[in-house]
Order: sequence, then C-alpha cells, then structure tokens
Amino acid sequence: MDLNFAGRIVAITGAATGFGRATARAFARRGAQVHAADLDAAGLAETANLPGIAGTVLDLTDHGAVAEWIAGVERQAGAIGVLVNNAGGVLGREFHPIEEADYQDWRAILAVNLDAAFLTIRAAAPAMKRAGTGRIVNISSGAGLRASRTGIQAYTSAKHAVIGLTRQMAQELGPHGITVNAVAPGLFPVSAGTWKQWNGYGPEKQRQVIQGLALRRLGKAEDIAKAVLFFASDLADYVTGQVLPVNGGSF
Ligand SMILES: NC(=O)c1ccc[n+]([C@@H]2O[C@H](COP(=O)([O-])OP(=O)(O)OC[C@H]3O[C@@H](n4cnc5c(N)ncnc54)[C@H](O)[C@@H]3O)[C@@H](O)[C@H]2O)c1
Repeated sequence: MDLNFAGRIVAITGAATGFGRATARAFARRGAQVHAADLDAAGLAETANLPGIAGTVLDLTDHGAVAEWIAGVERQAGAIGVLVNNAGGVLGREFHPIEEADYQDWRAILAVNLDAAFLTIRAAAPAMKRAGTGRIVNISSGAGLRASRTGIQAYTSAKHAVIGLTRQMAQELGPHGITVNAVAPGLFPVSAGTWKQWNGYGPEKQRQVIQGLALRRLGKAEDIAKAVLFFASDLADYVTGQVLPVNGGSF
C-alpha cells in the first residue's frame, strides 16, 4: 500500500539533511506541496532539487522569521495541512560534566530542538483551527524517553520536553480536528553530526550497538520518513498525543 498526499500543504523544518530531507522528498513524491526550511542554504537547495519542494533559508531561533515563514506559506498555499518539526540535534556540541556545561550551549540546543517547535505550532495553529483539520509531527528522540548516549544534558531535556509539548498540544488542538504526535528515532548515522558520533564509537562499540538492536542493522533516514507519513496519513486519523519509537528494536 502507498500513501497519497496530493495537494496537501506540508511545512517541514531542518530539511537540509538526514530525516528532514528524506521526509520532504517522501511527501513530495506522493504529491504534496512541501515547504522546507533550514539554516543550511546549500543542503536545502539539494533537498529542493525535486518538483514539489520549495526551500526557505531560515534561522529557527529568529522568532519573527519563523512567524513570517509560516505566514508566507499560508498566503501562498493556504492553511498548512502537515507541520513537521524536525530541526534539532546537538548542534555540534559535545558532552561536558554538568559543572562545566555552558549555559549558552544549553540555551542554543533548547532553542532549536524545543522552542522552534513551540514557535511553528503557535504560528500554524490558527489557520489549522479555521480549517478544522491538521497534522503536527514532532521529531523527538530515544533521548526523549530515557538518557542519551551523548550525555548532553540539554539534548535529553529538550527531547523529553518535545514529548510533553506533543501531549499537551494534542489535548488542546484535538477538539479542532488537529492531531499532534511524535517520532522517537534511535541512533541513525544520517547527517554530519550523527556520522561523527557513530564513527567516534569505533568498531567494537558499533558492533555492540547493532547487537543491541532486534533487527541487527542500522536504520535509514527513510525509515523515519515512513513514520512521519503514517502520522500524517488517514491511517492515523484516530491517533494523537502518541510517541512512536523507530529504532530497530533497541532495548
Ligand atoms: N540522526 C539521529 O540519530 C537522530 C536520533 C534521534 C533524533 N534525531 C533528531 O532528528 C532530527 C533530525 O536530525 P538528523 O540527524 O536528520 O540531522 P541533523 O541533526 O544534522 O539535522 C538537523 C537540521 O536542522 C537544521 N538546523 C539546525 N539549527 C537550525 C536553525 N537554527 N534554524 C534552521 N535550521 C536549523 C540543520 O541545518 C540540519 O539541516 C533532529 O531533531 C534530531 O535531534 C536524530
């Protein structure tokens, strides 16, 4: 079975690489009009090198720019049907013991992983409510459900908070026909930062990680796209406030 998103308006953040790129392309291939945003102009241009994807270079920590991006999509295309909050990650930061952790690094990670989702949802919700329908999918992490292998306090805290935001928004927006769900990926080496993390493990730890997965293999960015497509599709009409781990069966 395949899913059809013909004519659906999809807005997705962090689409220059990894999950965001795979998800933008998966929607576009199924007929959606995809509006993709990212800080990385070159990566975004590569993502948008497919009919049906329009890219906007944008810093999600710029509150006005986020509001303007959503308003611009709505002016051009109408209410957003599917909003995917994917931008995030550890932003190149590394683990430091808590007494050495830098507050600006803490704020930066929260700003992209958590605050940006708050800003896009706040901007997109009014038109979704007027339309009486909408799908919001937030990309959390296994680090939203338990501690992170990275050890980075801000990342774990932000990804847990994304799940809280998901559950709260599902309750608030459900009466308006809007569902809000989250995907919690395991470790996928799909972008520069996650390749660095994976390569840093070395062969023995890599082998242990794979042995810890029921499916005994790493996932692909398209595996996350499929989970997002499910939440955005009619198959998930009656699913809201939920978190779907997509991790090859890690324990
Ligand atoms: N890859 C993994 O192993 C993994 C696991 C769990 C969760 N995640 C989450 O999945 C999402 C995507 O991660 P990924 O690994 O595909 O790639 P990534 O973390 O490299 O990509 C995130 C994207 O967000 C963009 N971005 C960062 N700051 C931004 C800002 N201020 N404004 C606009 N865009 C900005 C980056 O340019 C990048 O294209 C992230 O939220 C990440 O935390 C990833």
